[in-house]
Amino acid sequence: MKGNFKIQEQAFSVNLELENQEGFVIKSSPRPYQLSFLHGENPGKRLADMILKNNSVPLILIDQKIHDLYLQNIKELSAIPTFFVNAAEDEKEITTVLEIITFLEKNQATKTSMLYVIGGGIIQDLGAFAGAMYKRGLPWTFIPTTLLAQGDSCVGGKTALNHKRTKNLLALFSAPRKVIIDTGFLPTLSRNDILSGIGEIFRLCVTGGEMFLNVFIKELPLFLQGDMEAGSRLISKSLLVKKAIVELDEFELDIRRSMNYGHSFGHALEALSDYKIPHGIAVTIGILVENEIAYQRKMLSVEERNLLLKVGSQIVPSDVAKIFAATSLDGVLDLLRRDKKTEGAVLKLATLEKIGQMRFIDFTLNEAGEKELRQAISEVLTFLDIS
Ligand SMILES: NC(=O)c1ccc[n+]([C@@H]2O[C@H](COP(=O)([O-])OP(=O)(O)OC[C@H]3O[C@@H](n4cnc5c(N)ncnc54)[C@H](O)[C@@H]3O)[C@@H](O)[C@H]2O)c1
Ligand SMILES: [Zn+2]
Repeated sequence: MKGNFKIQEQAFSVNLELENQEGFVIKSSPRPYQLSFLHGENPGKRLADMILKNNSVPLILIDQKIHDLYLQNIKELSAIPTFFVNAAEDEKEITTVLEIITFLEKNQATKTSMLYVIGGGIIQDLGAFAGAMYKRGLPWTFIPTTLLAQGDSCVGGKTALNHKRTKNLLALFSAPRKVIIDTGFLPTLSRNDILSGIGEIFRLCVTGGEMFLNVFIKELPLFLQGDMEAGSRLISKSLLVKKAIVELDEFELDIRRSMNYGHSFGHALEALSDYKIPHGIAVTIGILVENEIAYQRKMLSVEERNLLLKVGSQIVPSDVAKIFAATSLDGVLDLLRRDKKTEGAVLKLATLEKIGQMRFIDFTLNEAGEKELRQAISEVLTFLDIS
């Protein structure tokens, strides 16, 4: 069975048969990597068993919070060299990576070692960077513990650090050797961290087309009530779409840029709100605003625009919607000018022309563009709960 979607004139297909297996492979340069799915209670014990059974010499880089929640009573792991990190944006800096590299050197890490990177996107970015820089490549395995990392960032090999107050300024590609997705870690996440992950999954399901969006609409309420199997189905659907795109354009030279759907305005909003709006929720708002622009330009139908407003607004809780409504848009054009997809005064905006069909459009960053954007934002705000 296949799912099909389209970006500009290029058609993609998703092999849905992979979904019923325990994992799948992502083709990547210089080598493919395996994704495996696990679930059930006691993910800490499962993880410890896997690390202890493996033949490589293990080292661990872990979010302190995950260690405290899931691993601190597992005595067998205490002999393994471990570097603890606080998952905060101000730790996602080159100085932390250099400390990790010192730790790897002190513990004589070699190409036969395996660095287990355990946590969300912040720990992934640190581990991936250290893994790429240490002696030009140390094997690392990623165990994502947030929904955002499980449903999106664990595939694709992008990594970035903040530098001198600019988010994600230092960036490169660094793929793991393996990814282990264990939904057993998800129940302790905060509601906003869950919604943030759902925002990215929403983006991938809308990109993937009607069948993916229908699954999203069906599974979301079940997952929000705690059904982890529904969560696994959402994650695997989302990753299958991502796999199809990154395997064709791993290094984002062309079509993968469409994965920035929702991110142009989303990133600007994150910055304007002083990062009070979680990333995936800002992306969801970005999707709705960018859809509104496509709709106003008569690209997107009223039915699809309304459906996506209805579904997307469920991902924006009222406390976040209120922050959005109160955020000043002064400086929005300057932020959009710094977008990677801006050439001169024109932003190549990834928009939706139909569910499952993306198109890049020119969005000019001038007074008329700002007016169009403000109009789209005020429309979207009328659909959000800001009472
Ligand atoms: N490399 C990429 O492709 C990519 C993609 C998207 C985002 N990112 C980056 O990822 C970061 C955001 O990552 P994130 O949202 O995955 O999370 P995060 O690493 O920022 O963690 C968010 C919070 O959740 C906690 N946490 C993690 N797992 C938990 C669990 N299972 N239970 C309870 N608490 C848990 C963390 O301690 C932290 O407080 C940003 O820096 C962003 O730039 C990277
Ligand atoms: Zn994102």
